[in-house]
Amino acid sequence: MIQNIQTDGIGMTAEKATTRRGIILAGGTGSRLFPITHSVCKQLVPVYDKPMIYYPLSMLMLAGIRDILVIVNPRDLGGFHALLGDGAQWGLDIYYAEQERADGLAQAFLIGEEFIEGEPVCLVLGDNLMHGDALPEALLAASERTRGATVFGCEVEAPEQFGVVEFDQDGVAISLEEKPDVPKSNYAVPGVYFYDDKVVDYARCLRPSARGELEITDLNRLYLERGELKVELLDEGIAWFDAGLPESLAEASYFVRGIQEREGCKIACPEEIALAQGMIDRDRLGQSVARYEGTPYGEYLKQL
Ligand code: TTP
Repeated sequence: MIQNIQTDGIGMTAEKATTRRGIILAGGTGSRLFPITHSVCKQLVPVYDKPMIYYPLSMLMLAGIRDILVIVNPRDLGGFHALLGDGAQWGLDIYYAEQERADGLAQAFLIGEEFIEGEPVCLVLGDNLMHGDALPEALLAASERTRGATVFGCEVEAPEQFGVVEFDQDGVAISLEEKPDVPKSNYAVPGVYFYDDKVVDYARCLRPSARGELEITDLNRLYLERGELKVELLDEGIAWFDAGLPESLAEASYFVRGIQEREGCKIACPEEIALAQGMIDRDRLGQSVARYEGTPYGEYLKQL
């Protein structure tokens, strides 16, 4: 079920071929964060001073994406509506769809078929956070590639804990492995993926894995087998967190606090990104300032 709660029709006409649609996958069970996530959805849990979903949302905004589908657990739809609304406060069109069960990441493209409408699309996992000066450039480079698929390669010390990608000198992927005992490279694949207009057809070909899920790695492998999986290497200065464990959630919070205090600006403030990108004007920002009047977040918005 896709619900469009857009009310005032703000949209974007792309001047060149770029990925204009994004999906945030914010369902799942969040069992590694139990008991926190027994009654609260993981992507609404705070990472320092903002709900977790603000971080992937900001990544999509930095990629120039304005049409966003948020896929949620039926239980949590109300909470996401209350927080994000129709996205107009940030110049976005936000839509919602429900995923009944955690049947896998690649199911996003079957649930989102109507939203995707045969266009290229970016998928970002609702618990992934990235930050760094070079991030917007990397996201935009991927968003402009509208043939094949693009994953990112992030150099890590313990690749065996992640999905690992191996690639040739042209940045074309040659192998993909999920948590391999003997990794073929030190590059892990973070939870941000860009796909061309074939993604829904490819997702339809997938069958559930041994653990009963439609796996994103299997989808990526379909692109890899055709020589159409590009790897965009992340600059060393880009930090990446998957905030799905108590340790990584705490680490992400410390990181955000540290950067914000040191640099005096916020990571993943959608109002700030929207203003910088000309997606909202000062009147619209003023409405957010009023909404958060008398709070530290409101004070921050005021000085923008
Ligand atoms: P995971 O962290 O792989 O799964 P999870 O959130 O269910 O957590 P746990 O393993 O602790 O039980 O999911 C990554 C992201 O994708 C996260 O934002 C949840 C989301 N997700 C869905 O929306 N639907 C799904 O079917 C799955 C598997 C994940």
